Amino acid sequence: MRAVVTAGPTLEPIDPVRFLSNRSSGQQGYALAAALAAEGFDVTLVSGPTALADLAGVTMVRVETALEMLAAVEAALPAEVFVAVAAVADWRPAEVSDVKLKLDKAAMASLELVENPDILKTISGRAAETRPDLVVGFAAETHDVVEHARAKRLRKGCDWIVANDVSGDAMGGAENAALVIKPDAEVELPRAAKPEIARQLAAEIAAYFAH
Ligand code: C5P
Repeated sequence: MRAVVTAGPTLEPIDPVRFLSNRSSGQQGYALAAALAAEGFDVTLVSGPTALADLAGVTMVRVETALEMLAAVEAALPAEVFVAVAAVADWRPAEVSDVKLKLDKAAMASLELVENPDILKTISGRAAETRPDLVVGFAAETHDVVEHARAKRLRKGCDWIVANDVSGDAMGGAENAALVIKPDAEVELPRAAKPEIARQLAAEIAAYFAH
């Protein structure tokens, strides 16, 4: 069975030397890709820019922007499972300058941003024949974690959402704690190193296909 995972941040260029991005390290997504491969899935990892090495036994696709990430995910389908772990930048500059901009007050005030596609929502909304059987999203929240995550699962149209509290150092840190929110059950993954959280989530995913 095939799995597609997104990981890391996206990088949205402003000009040749500047960009918009975020602090995602990619660790949780890489750990999940490795854990799914260990469960026997044929895994494609679509990664934004990270400092992490390519994973052996996983098809690696390196991208920079959200638009590239969406195109790479669509090219990697069909798959039985899609897991969106990437911290996709919500906005990108409307135009990318070929030359280094002079970012004075006027330029900054008129820096126009346009919304990036929501990769998770796009894949969740595909027609049944081409939609992965199981679509899993992540919800990084700093407060009211469970309520926001339950609402996010419905809004995105995904099957499961993995809620995690990033008020500490989860984003970029080595540990994580999570709640897997399914339509009819919620499974707690207690605080542990990211590879252990990934192992447990991969086991949940494998179990879903085992029955
Ligand atoms: O809305 P929010 O960014 O909190 O949603 C997080 C979830 O949505 C994650 O699974 C993330 O990978 C996914 N996402 C996405 N494309 C976006 C924004 C978020 O796939 N443009």
